Amino acid sequence: MKFFVDTAEISEIKALLPTGLVDGVTTNPSLIMKSGRDIREVTAEICALTPGPVSAEVTALEADKMISEGKSLAKIADNVVVKLPLTFDGLIACKALTSEGIKTNVTLCFSANQALLAAKAGASFISPFIGRLDDINIDGMELIREIRVIYDNYDFRTEILAASIRSANHVKDSALAGADVATVPPGVLKSLVNHPLTDKGLKAFLDDWAKTGQKIL
Ligand code: E4P
Repeated sequence: MKFFVDTAEISEIKALLPTGLVDGVTTNPSLIMKSGRDIREVTAEICALTPGPVSAEVTALEADKMISEGKSLAKIADNVVVKLPLTFDGLIACKALTSEGIKTNVTLCFSANQALLAAKAGASFISPFIGRLDDINIDGMELIREIRVIYDNYDFRTEILAASIRSANHVKDSALAGADVATVPPGVLKSLVNHPLTDKGLKAFLDDWAKTGQKIL
């Protein structure tokens, strides 16, 4: 499973890069707003740092304007993926940008039928929003499972990018459900390493080591 980091904060991406865990980055208009940065500047900076795809979202609602915005965003760097909302206009823009060789991430997906349409429009990634479904008491993980079955039934190449992830369990369950990628907030990504028995075991080893009086270096 690939990990994308769900942030537009450069410092958070830089802190995670040495772990080798960062396969890409996703942003959205709310994350750009939180960063306080200009979308072009910050996207260019993220693209230069990141080894893989970097999603940048259009904000137009009509297909022709989405296509223009998408082409403009795609010129920022070779690894830009144009993020489009799951609307009919978004699907038209997806088809058009895909046919020009521009990678797309169709976002705000809340149903398996929406995911089917995005795959048929040639999306590179589909972003089902797990957390926002859970927020309204609908099982977000079931959506990932349904999309996995549908995409496998028809051999769609669109990658399932589990989004709106809020917890370590969301990451584990997305992996079990067969998501290709999870886009994870930095805090949740860091929390995946935690286990109290690791901490306890490490302390016991170091206490015993101190008793030997030895040093490795
Ligand atoms: C990423 O592609 C999505 O925009 C993001 O995961 C949404 O997360 P949220 O529901 O926590 O805002």
